Amino acid sequence: MKFFIDTADLTEIRDATAMGLIDGVTTNPSLVARTGRKYLDVVREICEIVDGPISAEVLGTDYDGMMAEAHDWAKVHKNIVVKLPLTLEGLRATKTCSKEGIATNVTLCFSVNQALLAAKAGASFISPFVGRLDDISEDGMNLIQDIVTVYQNYDFRTQVLVASVRHPIHVAKAALLGADVCTIPYKVIEQLAKHPLTDAGLAKFIEDSKKIPR
Ligand code: E4P
Repeated sequence: MKFFIDTADLTEIRDATAMGLIDGVTTNPSLVARTGRKYLDVVREICEIVDGPISAEVLGTDYDGMMAEAHDWAKVHKNIVVKLPLTLEGLRATKTCSKEGIATNVTLCFSVNQALLAAKAGASFISPFVGRLDDISEDGMNLIQDIVTVYQNYDFRTQVLVASVRHPIHVAKAALLGADVCTIPYKVIEQLAKHPLTDAGLAKFIEDSKKIPR
């Protein structure tokens, strides 16, 4: 499973990249707004740090506006993946991008039928939001299982990108279900490495190492 980092914070991206764990980056307007910087400037810098798919979202909602933004984003860097919303207009733009060879990430997916449409439109990635489904008392990981099954049934090449990840159990379940990618906030990446028995075991090894004759 590929690990993307779900942030627009350049320090987090640099630190996670230094860990050697990051295959790509996802951004969205809410994440970029937190930086107080222009979307284009942030994405350009991310492209210099990470050599992998970088999702940059369109801000328009009509087909023509989205296509104009998709063309602008595609010119920024070869690794740009244009993020489009899962609406009828967004799906139409996804289909056109697919024909033009522009990579796409269809975002705000909350149902298996939506994921089916995105695959039929030729999306490179589909982003089901598991945490936001959990928030309304639905099990987000059930949706991942359904999408993985449907995509396997018909050999769709669209990659399942698990988004809205809130904790390490989302990541473990995504891997067990065979998702292609998990986009993970920095805090959760750190949590993945933590285990109290690792900490206790290391403390004991350090203590015992002091008894070894030098
Ligand atoms: C990533 O592509 C999504 O925009 C992101 O994972 C959404 O996460 P949130 O539900 O925590 O805002």
